Amino acid sequence: MIDFLADIYPWTKALHIISVISWMAGMLYLPRLFVYHVAAETGSVQSETFKIMERRLLRGIINPAMILSFIFGGALLATPGIVDFAAGWIWIKLAALFFMTGFHGYLSRWRKEFAADSNTHSSKFYRYANEIPTALMVLIVIMVAVKPF
Ligand code: HEM
Repeated sequence: MIDFLADIYPWTKALHIISVISWMAGMLYLPRLFVYHVAAETGSVQSETFKIMERRLLRGIINPAMILSFIFGGALLATPGIVDFAAGWIWIKLAALFFMTGFHGYLSRWRKEFAADSNTHSSKFYRYANEIPTALMVLIVIMVAVKPF
C-alpha cells in the first residue's frame, strides 16, 4: 500500500490541488452570496433564488470538494518521504485546516438560517467573514510551498 502511494504521488498531488481549488472557490463565494442575500427582501423571487444557489453550491461543490481534499491530502500525509513531521509547517497547515473546517461548519449553519428566513447577521458581518478563508488559504499555501520552518 505504502509503495503504491509513492508510485502514484504526482497524481495524488494533482487531485489534491484540484479538490482544494474547488473547495476554496466555494468557501470564498458562498459568504459573498450571503452579502447579497441580506439585501434581498424576505419572500422575494430574488431571495428564493439565492436559497437555491446557496444550497447547490454547498451540497454540490463545497461539501464533496472538502471530502476529496481530505482524502487526497490524507493520502499525501501517508505517502512515504513526503512530509517531515518534525518540521513546523505541516503542523501550522493542519491547525489552519482545523479552522478552515470549522468555518465550513459556520457556512453550513448560516445557509440553513437563510433557508429558514431566520438570518440575523448584517452584510458587513459576511463581508468580514469572507476574509477568514482568504487569510487561512494564504497561510496554508505559504506553509506548503515555502515550508519556512
Ligand atoms: C483537507 C485537508 C488537507 C490535508 C490533509 C493536506 C495535506 C497535504 C499534504 C500532506 C501535502 C504534501 C506536501 C508536500 O508535497 O510537500 C499537501 C500539498 C499541498 N496542499 Fe494540502 N492538505 C489539505 C488541504 C489543503 C488546502 C485547503 C489547501 C489550499 C488552501 C492545500 C494546498 C496544498 C498545496 C498547494 C499543495 C502542494 C504543495 C507542493 O507544491 O508540494 N491543501 N497537502
